[in-house]
Amino acid sequence: MVTDASRWDEKYQKSELASLRVEPLLEKNLGFIENLPTGAKAVDIAAGKCHASVFLAKRGLDVTAIDCSGVGLELGIALAKEEDVSIRTLVLDLEANPLPTGSWSLICCFRYLNRALFPFIQDAIVDNGLLFFSTFNINHLEKAPRFNAEYVLQPGELQQSFQGLEILDLSDGDDPDQNLSWIVARR
Ligand SMILES: C[S@@+](CC[C@H](N)C(=O)[O-])C[C@H]1O[C@@H](n2cnc3c(N)ncnc32)[C@H](O)[C@@H]1O
Repeated sequence: MVTDASRWDEKYQKSELASLRVEPLLEKNLGFIENLPTGAKAVDIAAGKCHASVFLAKRGLDVTAIDCSGVGLELGIALAKEEDVSIRTLVLDLEANPLPTGSWSLICCFRYLNRALFPFIQDAIVDNGLLFFSTFNINHLEKAPRFNAEYVLQPGELQQSFQGLEILDLSDGDDPDQNLSWIVARR
């Protein structure tokens, strides 16, 4: 059976250790991240090769990278070593398992859409904690018509889904030239 894990493991097996790629949304909002206490707990959902996790670990956060692909996470551990930091990793299929319970000062998720997680993400952020979420929106289908339409955000969907949080930065599908939607929010 082809599972998310086997599909992504195969993809990452062909992939090489890359140098650290900085997520523009994290860089743009670095001031908010730097206001978190050193050692604050962060989780990177569907972390892949852990670029965001390593970026956050370099800013002093205690980061757990979760992904269904153990191969991707191994590349992430190697990236962390290259960058002289350490991260925690957890191999977990988030279609079949809930998000681990915990109180997180920062939750991030880039280019992975699992709407069932939204309420758990909102609840798991501590007071003054931050959410960074960004993935493809419907405009992406113009460029990539074979992309599964189930996995793109509708206009306004992020704002609607995270109503309990204070919005710090939002692009929610209203710009036709932008194929990513994002939200940065604080509890
Ligand atoms: C497009 S990649 C994004 C990786 C990373 N967030 C980034 O932006 O570089 C999507 C990630 O979602 C992970 N993923 C897909 N299905 C998953 C599932 N059911 N549970 C956990 N992770 C999953 C994949 O293994 C992959 O690493």
